[in-house]
Amino acid sequence: MRKVLVLNGPNLNLLGKREPEIYGRIDLIQIKADLEDISLNQVEIDLRQTNSEAELIEWIHEAFSQKLDVILNPAAFTHYSYALRDACSALSANGQKLIEVHISNPHAREEFRHTSVISAVASGVIAGFGAQSYALALKALIDN
Ligand code: DQA
Repeated sequence: MRKVLVLNGPNLNLLGKREPEIYGRIDLIQIKADLEDISLNQVEIDLRQTNSEAELIEWIHEAFSQKLDVILNPAAFTHYSYALRDACSALSANGQKLIEVHISNPHAREEFRHTSVISAVASGVIAGFGAQSYALALKALIDN
């Protein structure tokens, strides 16, 4: 069965409880269940979250070596982690898909969020659709 890694960066373990007016009330467990529904159990959804930049980079390396496509919400690392960007760049250069997702629309928020160091090495970016951003990303992966 095809496997997709759905990787989540710092503070997203608090999803559902953290600033719900921005990030909504749906948590990662529900997001995983929604993705499994969409994939009709044809795709294994391996959803993970970490607050550690190093661990997130290790997971991208795992995707690289296992030739897996990735849906990535880099959270705050989006805006400044060149190390994460370089890992993502290796993945894209290897012909693998990496879709950057955001629950909120960072461009409609504080200025520091307007920069993504990841977008230029992503296959595509989906932002601003709440938890549905993940579902749209998975549909894009399945269709492409
Ligand atoms: C986020 C947006 C980031 O700016 C923020 O640091 C997050 C979540 C989003 O999903 O909207 O933690 O990636």
